[in-house]
Amino acid sequence: MSIISLEGVGRTVERPDAPPLTILSSVDLEIADGDRVSVVGRSGSGKSTLLNLLGLLDRPTQGTIRFDGAEVRRLSDARLARLRGASIGFVFQQFNLLPGRTAIENVMTPLLYDRGTAFWRRERLATEMLGRVGLGERITSMPDRMSGGEQQRVAIARALVRRPRLILADEPTGALDLETGGTVMALMEEVARETGAALVTITHDPAIARRAVRHLRLDAGVISPLDDEPGPGGTSPADATAPIGAVERAPLARVAATETDEVLA
Ligand SMILES: Nc1ncnc2c1ncn2[C@@H]1O[C@H](COP(=O)(O)OP(=O)(O)O)[C@@H](O)[C@H]1O
Ligand SMILES: [Mg+2]
Repeated sequence: MSIISLEGVGRTVERPDAPPLTILSSVDLEIADGDRVSVVGRSGSGKSTLLNLLGLLDRPTQGTIRFDGAEVRRLSDARLARLRGASIGFVFQQFNLLPGRTAIENVMTPLLYDRGTAFWRRERLATEMLGRVGLGERITSMPDRMSGGEQQRVAIARALVRRPRLILADEPTGALDLETGGTVMALMEEVARETGAALVTITHDPAIARRAVRHLRLDAGVISPLDDEPGPGGTSPADATAPIGAVERAPLARVAATETDEVLA
């Protein structure tokens, strides 16, 4: 079933001393339950803007977004905030954990806004989720005493503790070394599979992008499929568990070269 759909979506911002800037144009995109989507693109191509729209953090200036069939433009900011809290989990490059709060306090945070029984069970739920990401022994650790990979695992536990239908990850491995990044992605995919969540990953790393089933790219605000779609069923389980970089496909390698050129430039 469709979670969110974008139809002809654009995002233009007004600027005081310059003509309006179009960051995204004519984006058509549908994310269904359990989907695995990656989005690559140069820095400045509109990836985070797209993620903010998918995350109901921002509203489009053109086109229509529907969340669970409801037109987002008709929903109040308060309603959007509730939908976001209950249905969407975010994972960012810089982890964005609350400093001075333990791992379990960080993971419990989203549950403070839960109007159901999860509020009362928040300590147990957060403990379970930290156990699930392999941090059962670290629940009282402070983020600044944890490695990058551990901090990102706390962030994943926090994103998933309310069992969102949609996980949005913006460069989730960008601050991690290759091996840790691969481990963290595998974990996020596993937990997403268990909870049936859809996962949209924005990344510069073609090996990370390839782990998804649907591969998209953004170029100057225009989205298009990468022409390397695998056969029926998408990425095979063997591919998904292969070591990072073990499977190369030409079109993504081409994107890699572009990104690398840009990084080196
Ligand atoms: N609110 C805004 N006002 C002006 N320019 C913006 C705003 N948000 C994003 N931009 C610009 O739009 C472009 C795309 O931004 P972003 O979506 O963050 O790209 P990416 O995540 O792909 O690097 C960038 O050039 C950025 O500077
Ligand atoms: Mg970005």
